[in-house]
Amino acid sequence: MKYHLALIGYRGSGKTSLGLWLAKRLAWPCLDTDSLVETATGMSVSEIFSRQGEAAFRTLEAAMLDKALGGPPAVIATGGGIILDEKNRLRLGEACLVVWLTADVETLSKRLQRDEHRPPLTTLDPLEEIRTLMAVREPLYAALADLTLDTGRQSLEVAAGIISEFVQKKTAEGEFLGLPACIDGVADC
Ligand code: S3P
Repeated sequence: MKYHLALIGYRGSGKTSLGLWLAKRLAWPCLDTDSLVETATGMSVSEIFSRQGEAAFRTLEAAMLDKALGGPPAVIATGGGIILDEKNRLRLGEACLVVWLTADVETLSKRLQRDEHRPPLTTLDPLEEIRTLMAVREPLYAALADLTLDTGRQSLEVAAGIISEFVQKKTAEGEFLGLPACIDGVADC
């Protein structure tokens, strides 16, 4: 039975911001796999990439995903590359309603330009990097997604409302456990 809500998608698609917004609305904890890695190691994601390499980061990321999935119901904002590992995909698919956040390449690129903390993933220029990695990742995101939302076209508030309705529907259909009473958007949630 699915009892977490996971947000997947490319960097800059809004997973962390929407995750926090949703967790407040659902009165659930919000876990972010990147933050869990940083807390566990005492290093930033960029530092791990530069000192230990991407493979070491991916091992830590998988361990932190397991930790999050083993805990109580939560909104789990995942790192953009978490879906590259087949085991991660299986675990996410088993335990989570999965929402894929999308945006077009230009929107993602603009959002990422504002953030200097993310390590480069290739030697390509930023736009080309997004295009190249998206070509590999898109089918993986799509295969895992229970719901897809374009965050380039709607505000986080609207997106959170759509997700809340979706969670209600899946709960009513018996496919999701753990719908809190406040999901209707009652003011004190
Ligand atoms: C990565 C995305 C990052 C972080 C790391 C690798 C990726 O997370 O996990 O830099 O491979 O796309 P965000 O998607 O939260 O930026």
